[in-house]
Amino acid sequence: MQVLAKGGNAFDAAVAVSAALAVVEPMGSGLGGGGFWLLHRQRDGLQLMIDGRERAPLKARHDMYLDKNGTPVPGLSLNGALAAGIPGVPAALDHITRKYGRLTLAENLAPAIRLARDGFPIYERYRRLAEFRLEALSDSPAAAATFLDQGFLPEAGFQLKQPDLARTLERIAAKGRDGFYKGDTAHKLVRGVKKAGGIWSKKDLRDYRIVERKPVVASYHGARIVSAALPSAGGIVLAQTLNILESLPIRQSGPALRKHYIIEAMRRGYRDRARYLGDSDFIKVDVDALTSKQYADRLSEGIGKRATPSKSLPGIEPRRLGTDTTHFSILDRDGNRVAATLSVNYPFGSAFMPAGTGVVLNNEMDDFSIKPGVGNVYGLVGNGANAIAPGKRPLSSMSPTFIETEDAVVVIGTPGGSRIISMVLLASLECLEGRGGAKDWVALKRYHHQYLPDVVQHEAGAFTHAEEKFLEDHGHKLETINRNYGNMQAVVWYKKSNRVDAASDPRGEGLATIQ
Ligand code: DON
Repeated sequence: MQVLAKGGNAFDAAVAVSAALAVVEPMGSGLGGGGFWLLHRQRDGLQLMIDGRERAPLKARHDMYLDKNGTPVPGLSLNGALAAGIPGVPAALDHITRKYGRLTLAENLAPAIRLARDGFPIYERYRRLAEFRLEALSDSPAAAATFLDQGFLPEAGFQLKQPDLARTLERIAAKGRDGFYKGDTAHKLVRGVKKAGGIWSKKDLRDYRIVERKPVVASYHGARIVSAALPSAGGIVLAQTLNILESLPIRQSGPALRKHYIIEAMRRGYRDRARYLGDSDFIKVDVDALTSKQYADRLSEGIGKRATPSKSLPGIEPRRLGTDTTHFSILDRDGNRVAATLSVNYPFGSAFMPAGTGVVLNNEMDDFSIKPGVGNVYGLVGNGANAIAPGKRPLSSMSPTFIETEDAVVVIGTPGGSRIISMVLLASLECLEGRGGAKDWVALKRYHHQYLPDVVQHEAGAFTHAEEKFLEDHGHKLETINRNYGNMQAVVWYKKSNRVDAASDPRGEGLATIQ
C-alpha cells in the first residue's frame, strides 16, 4: 500500500510484497527460493509470466539423491545444502522493477529492509513450522542463530531480527541482481554451500537468468483463463481439466455426480502431469496438443459414472502434506495485475543458511522426479521428463492465475504443494459458473485427486453425507485430511459496475485490502 501510495504500480507493489514476505514469512518463500509472477499490463494488454524458478546446479546429476543400489537416500533432497537449487527471486525482483515498475529497486525493497533490521514479533504459524523443522534448522548454525532463540523454539512474541538478511537486501537494492549473484553475497553463498557438502559454484549464480514466458491460455464456455506456463504444470493441468469438464454435462448433473466428474478430470490432468511434464527448455512438451479441446474430448470418452482406477490408465507405475509457500494477488488503479506464487518448497526450504547471508535456501530439488515412479514429498510421481539435469528447472504446481469473464477479472492463486492446481480449479469453476464472490471462492471446502495415490483427499465438510455415499458407491476411495489446506488470495474487478472485491483464505494468514 505504501509503494502504491508513493506512485508505484502493481509491479512495484509485487516486488515490495515479495521482498517483505521473504522477511516476515521465511518458511514460505524468500531470496533463497523461486517463484512465478503472472503479469498483466493494462496499457497494452501485455500478459506474461516471469519464471524465477530455481535451476539445478551445473554439477547436478540425475541420480544425485540415490545410493549405490539406486535407492533414494532419505532426506537428501529435503534437508541441507545439497537440496537447494539456484535461487531466482532476487533476479526476478530486479527484472520486474527495471522493466515494468515506476519506482527504483531501492524504493521497492525499503520496507523489507526495515522489517529485517527492526524485526517483527513471530506468530503462531511461524512457531508451528519452526517446530516442524526444528531438527533441520538446528543442523545449520546460521539458520539456528536466525530463526531460533538460543537454540530453542522461540516463544510467542519473540522479536525476530535478521540483520544479515537486511544487509543482503541492501546490497541488492544498491547493485540490482549483481548484489546477490556476484561479489560478496555470491562469495558467501557458494562458500557456505560447499562447506556444507553442496555443489554450487560461482558460475551457477552468475549464469542464473529469469525467463519471460508466454502464459498458458485456456477457455471455458467463452471465458478466458490465463495461468502459469512450464516449468509449472499449473496452467496445462488447469486447461486440460477445464477442457474435460466443458465436454461433460456437469451443469446438468446433480452435485454428487458433478463432483465425480471433477475428480475424474483431476485424475487425468495429474496423470499427464506425471507423464509428460518437465522443463520445456530441456524436453519437448506438446503443450498445444495437451491443452486442446480434441484431446480433452478423447479423455472424456473414458469417463463414465464410476471411478476409473488410476492403475487402469496407462501411465506411471506407483510406488504428505505441504503447508507452506506463499501467494499474493494485486490489482492497481490502472488495471495492472500481478498474481504471484513464490516458494522455498518445504517449510523453511532446506533449512540451510550459508553463514553471513541471512538467506535460507530452498529445497526445490525435491520437486524433480528423483527416480521414476518414486513420489516426492507431496506424493507426486514423475518420470524422465522431470528428471534432474544440470541447469534444469524442477516441475512445479504453482499456479498464479487470471480469470477473465465478460464482466469480471480475477487475480487468484494459493500455496499448497501438489494440491495447488486442484484448489485453483475448484475456485475457478465457482467463479466461471457465477457462484458467489471472492469470499466464497477462497473459503470453498476442497477435495483433490492427483492420479496417484488413487484416493480422493478432502477437507472435512467438502462432501455431504449423500455425496460421500454416492462417490463411494461409484468406486472412489475417500480420505479426510485432518488439517485444512491452502491459503488462497483473490482479487476481483467487476468491470461493468467498476467495483473491486478481494478476499483472503480464512484458513491462513493474509489480508484483503481495498484502497
Ligand atoms: O513448486 C511447487 O509446486 C512446490 N515447490 C510448492 C510447494 C508448496 O506449495 C508447499 N506448500 N504447501
